Amino acid sequence: MNSIEKIFNLTGKTAIVTGAAGQLGTQYTQTLLDAGASVAAFDLKIDNPRGRLGKINSDRLVKVEVDITKKTSIEKGLAEVVSRLGSPGILINNAAIDAPPNADEQETGPFETYPESSWDIMMDVNLKGMFLCCQIIGGHMAKAGGGSIINIASIYGILSPDQRIYEYKEKPFIKPVTYCVSKSGVLNLTRYLATYWAKKGVRVNTLTIGGVFNNQDENFLKNYNNKVPLGRMANQDEYNGAILFLSSDASSYMTGANLIVDGGFSAW
Ligand SMILES: NC(=O)c1ccc[n+]([C@@H]2O[C@H](COP(=O)([O-])OP(=O)(O)OC[C@H]3O[C@@H](n4cnc5c(N)ncnc54)[C@H](O)[C@@H]3O)[C@@H](O)[C@H]2O)c1
Repeated sequence: MNSIEKIFNLTGKTAIVTGAAGQLGTQYTQTLLDAGASVAAFDLKIDNPRGRLGKINSDRLVKVEVDITKKTSIEKGLAEVVSRLGSPGILINNAAIDAPPNADEQETGPFETYPESSWDIMMDVNLKGMFLCCQIIGGHMAKAGGGSIINIASIYGILSPDQRIYEYKEKPFIKPVTYCVSKSGVLNLTRYLATYWAKKGVRVNTLTIGGVFNNQDENFLKNYNNKVPLGRMANQDEYNGAILFLSSDASSYMTGANLIVDGGFSAW
């Protein structure tokens, strides 16, 4: 193995990916397996058809039904990982929810009438769930001698959404506030833990990503792509390099940082 292969190699490491059955979680799971790691795929719906996790077969892959909003569920999941794959050294906090295109009218309506219950549900998964995974799995890593945590955020955690993107819709559509606020919170959870755990050898970084092509409405694509210097949405495999970089020794001097991969969206 040459020195370049060595810094990206994850053989002997155990990784946990939350939301692993989703579109991007499946990509990250495959990437970590390809780099030699054993991977625990955590998801509320382990057979979610969106990500095709069911198509990945490896004796280094364990699929565990975990609800990241429940402390006991994460603790149970971690215990299963430790006994079947060994102590985790990599945690990808990827699970999150957003308002789907067919969301309830109030949820994608004016801010003034945005439902309090929608705020609570999304905050619970996107921020509290990440906090709990860091506390339980990150806490285990800190005790066991170190690791790398990657918290997934979004361009809407560093910028306000341009609501004009959605003006083509017949019914008024407002990109909801909670997704943006929850993703913003990820950035400082990362910084807090990066400094808190630095001496314990746990590195913590944010990966901020832009929108992924998923056969969206062509009006949406036209408006979104106009805002991207590279002129298009990401392909679903275009964040895998960043995941491998942040998971491996290639990023050994990096902690508390925010790596932005967005086709230039935030540069304009
Ligand atoms: N896809 C994009 O365009 C895009 C853009 C920017 C940021 N992101 C971020 O990337 C990450 C992955 O996005 P995606 O498009 O793959 O999403 P996805 O909806 O395809 O997958 C998310 C997965 O999380 C799981 N999940 C939801 N609640 C959970 C819970 N309580 N416990 C455990 N698992 C739970 C779901 O079952 C699902 O499989 C998210 O953090 C998202 O905010 C995505």
